[in-house]
Amino acid sequence: MSDIACINGNFVPLAEALVPIEDRGYQFADGVYEVIVAHGGAPFLLDEHLDRLQRSADGIRLDLDCTTLGLGALIRRGIEECGYGDVMVYLQITRGVASREHAYAGSITPNLVMTFKRKPTIDAALRSDGIKLETVADTRWAHCNIKSIALLANVMIKNAAKQRGYFDAIIVTPDDEVLETSCANVFIVRDGRLITPAADTRILHGITRGFILNNARALQISVEERSVGRSELMAADEVFMTSSSIDILPVCSVDGQPIRSGKPGPIAARMLESFPKSAAAANA
Ligand code: PDD
Repeated sequence: MSDIACINGNFVPLAEALVPIEDRGYQFADGVYEVIVAHGGAPFLLDEHLDRLQRSADGIRLDLDCTTLGLGALIRRGIEECGYGDVMVYLQITRGVASREHAYAGSITPNLVMTFKRKPTIDAALRSDGIKLETVADTRWAHCNIKSIALLANVMIKNAAKQRGYFDAIIVTPDDEVLETSCANVFIVRDGRLITPAADTRILHGITRGFILNNARALQISVEERSVGRSELMAADEVFMTSSSIDILPVCSVDGQPIRSGKPGPIAARMLESFPKSAAAANA
């Protein structure tokens, strides 16, 4: 078992993978990405991730038809070759290599880079006790639906939250509308209803978010995709955050104030049951 990378279709040990320093991804963060997990060797919601990758590429005018790249086959091969079973796949497509200039020519060839590593396990205490979040102002760009590799605002938000003792931060608008965290979507539960901010340009349209909404509907739990205010967040019965890397993490407090009892709630637990088990969890 080993960490590997795939550069434009060529697989190499991760430590040997190199990219040119004039790649526009390196100099301008001019690219898009996906994070996909595999459980027991099976990539989870792969088609949904590849569809979103195409939408992100279209969103930054990257002239690319992702279906012709054979990404699905490359991803499956990488998952198999690294041998971890539970894998974290990072995939990015940048506009490619060119002499540094803001405007880009149409003739640049995009670069595809993937890494395959063991999926980190989530600390059991985070799942059982919940996480602490703070609320912060939005300092990101105006196209957060595009999964751009330009994540400096998100990096600053998460790092500042961690330094203040929080797991992450919920980004809110100037009029106190809840958006998402630095790297996950946010759900609240109110009177048995599952509520999450609408999928507009201010949030990433999370694949996990979509999976949970579908599951909830299948379980006859009523769902609402609409604006959520900070006061509604603070008064919620449950709050949880979702992403490919964490599945679901329950939130026990926001800005130091406990959410209801301050303990993870039943809907988050019920939603978590619908996820495929990692090999480690299945063998425990
Ligand atoms: N982040 N919102 C933001 C800003 C994100 O960066 C992510 C994912 C999500 C959840 O999306 P999904 O359910 O498709 O993973 C929401 C990934 C995991 C990351 O950057 O590492």
